[in-house]
Amino acid sequence: MATKFSSQPAPIGVFDSGFGGLSILREIRKALPQYDYIFLGDNARAPYGNRSYQLVYEFTLQAVSYLFSQGCHLVILACNTASAKALRSIQQRDLKNLDPDRRVLGVIRPTVEEIGNLTKTRKVGIFGTPGTVQSLSYDIEIAKMHPDIKVYSHACPMWVPLVENRESNGPGADYFVKKDVEALMKQCEDIDSIILGCTHYPLLYDKIKQFTPPAVNIIEQGPIVAKSLKDYLNRHPEMEQRCTRGGTCQYCTTEDASRFSPVASIFVNHNVNAKHVIL
Ligand code: DGL
Repeated sequence: MATKFSSQPAPIGVFDSGFGGLSILREIRKALPQYDYIFLGDNARAPYGNRSYQLVYEFTLQAVSYLFSQGCHLVILACNTASAKALRSIQQRDLKNLDPDRRVLGVIRPTVEEIGNLTKTRKVGIFGTPGTVQSLSYDIEIAKMHPDIKVYSHACPMWVPLVENRESNGPGADYFVKKDVEALMKQCEDIDSIILGCTHYPLLYDKIKQFTPPAVNIIEQGPIVAKSLKDYLNRHPEMEQRCTRGGTCQYCTTEDASRFSPVASIFVNHNVNAKHVIL
């Protein structure tokens, strides 16, 4: 089947509903600085966390199609909600029509692979969006890969809006983070590791740490996803050869670019000049 997209080597695509994916992109670029990247944030339609399966799937498919149209051969869904609600359908149903040689990878599987090495009590907490928690994706994947681990999940519907609205350092964030940490820890006091199962949550890391018992390990996904991508590219030289090497990153957002760029610049610690796109 002839592909509709350019077969030339291209940047790696990284997608999130909003700013959270920048926490993954940052770590990927630290581990793999030699490649080019295109980041796409669907900020105009974030948060995804409370949206239906159908909408998260449709929005994610639009984002993946956009990144393919920009030439990307490999797209990382740097979003747990999209990984939970859309990844499987895209991999199993849509890729063969879009282009069977392109790949879309998520963030849940690499995190689940790693968690077995990180917990001693085998009691793991998950913070996620309502969509991720209701999908039971972590429960199902952890049960398959580490049947001895017991999972305790808690949805934090206010955390993404706090980040998207740049309120993650304000007193409102203290109130919600404390409340949600207590609600999770109340489920089991032996939890020794908590996965931040939403890529926006590392932006609340200091507050989460402040309200969590000091012995509990708070696990961010960025370094895990970066290591997993590095392994993937080592195992798949045919894909690695289709990723351009220039060390650049283009930023795209569905929001007004002049609103996105200054905030994104703070997250990634360099000057971002984003482009507005319509999906
Ligand atoms: N950052 C995303 C995640 O990892 C989505 C958050 C949202 O849009 O609700 O789940």
